[in-house]
Amino acid sequence: MRLIAHLSDLHFGRTDPVVVEALTRDLVQQKPDLVIISGDLTQRAKSHQFAEARHFLDRLEIPVLVVPGNHDLAPFYRPLKRLLAPRAKFQKYLPNLAQATCWNDEEIIAIGLDSTRHLRWQSGKLRSHHLDRVEESLSNSADHHCKIAFLHHPPSTARSGHPFQTLTQRGVDLILTGHVHKAHVELIHSAQHGAGVLVQASTACSTRLREDANGYALIQVAWPEIRIDVRGWNGLTFHAVRSHGFIKDSRGWREQDCPLPHAAPRNSPIEEY
Ligand SMILES: [Fe+2]
Ligand SMILES: [Fe+2]
Repeated sequence: MRLIAHLSDLHFGRTDPVVVEALTRDLVQQKPDLVIISGDLTQRAKSHQFAEARHFLDRLEIPVLVVPGNHDLAPFYRPLKRLLAPRAKFQKYLPNLAQATCWNDEEIIAIGLDSTRHLRWQSGKLRSHHLDRVEESLSNSADHHCKIAFLHHPPSTARSGHPFQTLTQRGVDLILTGHVHKAHVELIHSAQHGAGVLVQASTACSTRLREDANGYALIQVAWPEIRIDVRGWNGLTFHAVRSHGFIKDSRGWREQDCPLPHAAPRNSPIEEY
């Protein structure tokens, strides 16, 4: 079994410190095996915002994978940096994470795909080299591996390039996205090769709320089943808002009631926070 916390759109620079502390506490208490962040760690890609993000990640003491979001690129009012080195600060403040965007163990393979674009920042793009990377990463995978791709932009804003079904056709089971600040879970149908599951996370801790509260997804993988608990902020604490269960059989993925029990929080030294 693997427990993954999927966070997105933290937006350091526009965070609520009370929510950041509660989020830290909740993650430490849930103690996932892996934290995956699908972009927008900062509000304006400023040095102190990346430093805050780095501090938050360091306190978790949990393995983390990240990809940048559009807010992590050099802003438009710095056009030269935007054009010549848009990811310079992301790479400077998160050097190890910027390099290692793939996770591979006995149960899961997770692949980070940078969907940001320099000039058309609102709509991301899935390019051919992303698909090549997915194929290469999954070339030695086993049937029992849960195969995960994570990127910033969800299908609704990926207006050009390959549709997301191209990922499920290459064997991806689970696609994790953010950007629109609204939690959403659904099956992705594909006419040719079955389906995958899309998990879109809300903003984890920023005040840039749209139609949803702060939240994140806690994903429990026990092949061939996945349980997704959407956790949300209620003003006092993060709590389970709703759960989704999925199972894969010879015809592909389908939704089911949640037979996997909720993963009980593991003993953790939460008093440290
Ligand atoms: Fe965002
Ligand atoms: Fe974004």
